[in-house]
Amino acid sequence: MDLAKRRGFFWPSYEIYGGVAGFYDLGPLGTMLKNNIVNLWRKYFVLKHQDMVVEIETPIIAPEVVLRASGHLEHFTDPIVECLKCGRKYRADHLIEEQLKVKVEGLRGDELTKIIRESNLRCPSCGGELSKVMEFNLLFRTTIGPYSSDVGYLRPEAAQGMFTAFKRVYVALRERLPLGIAQIGRVARNEISPRQGMVRLREFTIMEVEFFHNPESDEPPWDRFSGKLRILPAELRARGEERPIEVDVNEAVTEGLIKSKWLGYWMCVARDFVHELGVDYGEMYFEEKMPYERAHYSVQTFDQLVRVSRWGWIEVSGHAYRTDYDLRRHMEFSGQDLTVFKPYPEPKLVEVKRVVVDRALLGRVLGGSLKELEEVLRKLRAEDVEKLLATGSGEVEVGGFRVPREAIRVVKEVEKASGVRIIPHVAEPSFGAERLVLVVLDKAYTEEGGRVVLRIPKAIAPIKVAVFPLVEREELISLAKRIYWELVDRGFTVLYDESGSIGRRYARADEIGVPFAITVDFQSLEDGTVTIRDRDTRQQVRVKIGELPNQLRGLLEG
Ligand code: GLY
Repeated sequence: MDLAKRRGFFWPSYEIYGGVAGFYDLGPLGTMLKNNIVNLWRKYFVLKHQDMVVEIETPIIAPEVVLRASGHLEHFTDPIVECLKCGRKYRADHLIEEQLKVKVEGLRGDELTKIIRESNLRCPSCGGELSKVMEFNLLFRTTIGPYSSDVGYLRPEAAQGMFTAFKRVYVALRERLPLGIAQIGRVARNEISPRQGMVRLREFTIMEVEFFHNPESDEPPWDRFSGKLRILPAELRARGEERPIEVDVNEAVTEGLIKSKWLGYWMCVARDFVHELGVDYGEMYFEEKMPYERAHYSVQTFDQLVRVSRWGWIEVSGHAYRTDYDLRRHMEFSGQDLTVFKPYPEPKLVEVKRVVVDRALLGRVLGGSLKELEEVLRKLRAEDVEKLLATGSGEVEVGGFRVPREAIRVVKEVEKASGVRIIPHVAEPSFGAERLVLVVLDKAYTEEGGRVVLRIPKAIAPIKVAVFPLVEREELISLAKRIYWELVDRGFTVLYDESGSIGRRYARADEIGVPFAITVDFQSLEDGTVTIRDRDTRQQVRVKIGELPNQLRGLLEG
């Protein structure tokens, strides 16, 4: 943490005013590192899958209806408790866990209140009595424009922008399915009391793919990513098991341990992406969330956990099988058709259910409102109408109208169909970029003989090359500067340093993870060669100045 602040990776935001929990600035090196991580993510999740994944950008602010439809207004909450004396607020489950050393995740508010009362838990700050437990919504609220009635929220995930734009992207991509929509952008969550520094931020960069597919037919390209995954299934966790098991992804899907093949596929991509950030396969696994730990939209979620030295196991990505939940909800709330047409290989005879109304009878009962009822019925699926009819005997209520049950019937018909309309299902891999910055630095940090060497994987190191004149002599300085500008022109990120001993300059470059250092010495003036020193082996090779760009590129690509 000291190095991060001192050398410019990250520090708490608004420090001159005392800082605000959950907000961090990325400094110059932190920003470069994050950009490289984001680009590597893009390489794995978008570029390597550009035959089926495209990237878009949507707003950070969403109108209320979007987050009502998504379920976040109702479900995106954490339990909160307030001190009735001093007014301090605490996250209720965390307070109980800290004070009583028991696990209470998943318990309802009234159950948490009962524990607080029975254990006589008091405010840790002033000893005052605590309120009953309430639900606190984590959405940041604002207004759109000058009207206080036009409520908007900062998005808590990029996903909703992709769901609401789905039909546009689908049509623009010539109705292709499967179709992944990716987005990288800022999101905000008003955490009650974030305490883990960069691990739990109130605002961060999310990198997500919403992968729309037909669960019946679309098959992942297993030849690109597959193999073994370390997973800890919920069933094992429920039995107290804490060690993951190693499974073959295809077997895990076949056996139902992983409920969606696309979820399993993207977990394999995530495994290899995180490995390239410098995490050994043995230091990561996928933990299945218990039903009470899952977000409201998911029928199965795995968190990818990575072990870091300071906080133990932390979550770097979430993999949720969101089914057709989001598109279905947005269809309901917007009234738009978000289904897609999947043609059959050959037309076939299919049995369909159709809603038939007795217009004469309904006309007598409803008069001019018949049209409105017909509009409501058009938006309902025949299966849902069937369920509605089953609820009433003499009369049933449909869309606010009470009508005789016999006036509406659901009939079965056989018809020739060339395809079917489906609501695509979604598997979602979702990463937090700032946590990955933390993970990369944690894994890269080494101390050797009292000196820090950041062994950041070369491909994502913020600064790729350092250029030093061996000593402060005019001829060496001018050649070193020429080399510096030549490498800058060739697209490298380069550091020039001429102050202090060469040993100190190597040490300063090692401390921020510069993979290669070029030194211009007296021999350079004679034969046009320089030395390249490798950060990790400290080995030096001598190369011709003209060959530097190609040599460096080769070395960086390994
Ligand atoms: N979209 C994933 C999440 O909100 O965590």
